[in-house]
Amino acid sequence: MSQPKRQLHLNLFILSTGHHEASWRHPEALPHMATDLRYYQRLAQTAERGKMDSIFLAEKYRLNKMIKYRVIPQMEAFTLLSAIAAVTERIGLTATASTTYNEPYHIARKFASLDHISGGRTGWNIVTSTGDATARNFSRNEHLGHRERYERGREFVEIVKRLWDSWGEGSLVIDKESGIYADIERIHGANFQGNHFSVQGALNIPRSPQAHPVLVQAGSSEDGKEFAAELAEVVFTVQHTIEEAKAFYQDVKTRMKKYNRSENELKILPGFIPFVGDTEAEAKDKERELNELAVSEYGIQCLSDTLQTNMFAYPLDGPVPFEDLPSVHEIKGQQARFQLYVDLARRENLTIRELIIRTAGGRGHFTFAGTPVQIADVMERWLNDHAADGFNLMPPLLPSGLDDFVDKVIPELQNRGIYRTEYTGRTLREHLGLPLGFAASRV
Ligand SMILES: Cc1cc2nc3c(=O)[nH]c(=O)nc-3n(C[C@H](O)[C@H](O)[C@H](O)COP(=O)(O)O)c2cc1C
Repeated sequence: MSQPKRQLHLNLFILSTGHHEASWRHPEALPHMATDLRYYQRLAQTAERGKMDSIFLAEKYRLNKMIKYRVIPQMEAFTLLSAIAAVTERIGLTATASTTYNEPYHIARKFASLDHISGGRTGWNIVTSTGDATARNFSRNEHLGHRERYERGREFVEIVKRLWDSWGEGSLVIDKESGIYADIERIHGANFQGNHFSVQGALNIPRSPQAHPVLVQAGSSEDGKEFAAELAEVVFTVQHTIEEAKAFYQDVKTRMKKYNRSENELKILPGFIPFVGDTEAEAKDKERELNELAVSEYGIQCLSDTLQTNMFAYPLDGPVPFEDLPSVHEIKGQQARFQLYVDLARRENLTIRELIIRTAGGRGHFTFAGTPVQIADVMERWLNDHAADGFNLMPPLLPSGLDDFVDKVIPELQNRGIYRTEYTGRTLREHLGLPLGFAASRV
């Protein structure tokens, strides 16, 4: 008997008018809808029509000064996803919440609520946040150091899991006859005392359908990979080539062994930015059209932020000044992104302008322009070569880039037998093939 084919998982990363920095200037873009609920509901419904596992919203707690050149207002994720839950039935809903600028009790409550509201479709993208500008919105002068952030993050997740486990089996009695609603003997406090947090009590919401919403993580540094191997069930990652993706995949999955976890308890989803065209030429034209709309000040500023070096001081058509860049360990923010940009510029001997253009489509994520068949070929290869368990789909232009993907690429993936034609489960855990309450057994 032949082996069943490996199945692809797809998450839609929703970002205003699309992941290309100039997407909002495109004639098809709807920038005035960036704070309109109906816009997001429609995107989620399209993703659900495409039988995707989940949608995902990023969350930052500061105004990005680059908003001057780009549509990046951020609606609060729990509020938005609750409203999306009401008009969808199956698709998973992943919200980002930072362990650096929240309290565990708040976050446990929000996810438990959203999991109830959505009937078990929630995921938590656990981030530690970046930058001093965020710190200054939370009564601090400086962002915490890398190690300390992850240490705090570990305690945070541990507490949230304990809170989700507060309501033990049989604690919800609901006996009108005797007048007993809950058996408080079966409800347990978190009783946690650590270096960063002290949380005693129990959660005030009964156990949600998934018990534990799916834990998602997106850091690729050493600390990040270790965190993922120990705790995460989905990993979003930035991988520019299939070789890099394979190395990352192998690395994280191997690390899982020391935490007694099997490889299929974690799905690795690299970001993927597809330009879909009926011909290859049309797809490449779409990419070129967006690149030509890019504002150069935006690109130079973004590159300066990523490389933590003032790139305005160097000629745009000159080489990347490797000798003036900090070392990766000095990077307080996104170390993995820094390394990826440096490696890309070195490998392809790019000028500053070329590096900006290469990363304009999606900040270093894997970008590919082609026909539905060519795109499906690439995705199938990454899947079969164990470079990915699926993708974090980042359409360069919304909503049209998503419509193209769902109408043209999804049927091609389905025809190949590597992607579902119908949902078989109701919860996000079921879509991802993850065991119920995995984390519960480890608390
Ligand atoms: C696809 C993707 C989405 C992310 N979303 C967020 C986000 O919403 N908020 C945030 O603060 N960081 C976000 N990050 C950043 C990571 O969570 C992480 O903080 C960052 O990669 C730095 O960690 P590292 O140094 O371990 O790589 C995202 C990263 C990726 C790859």
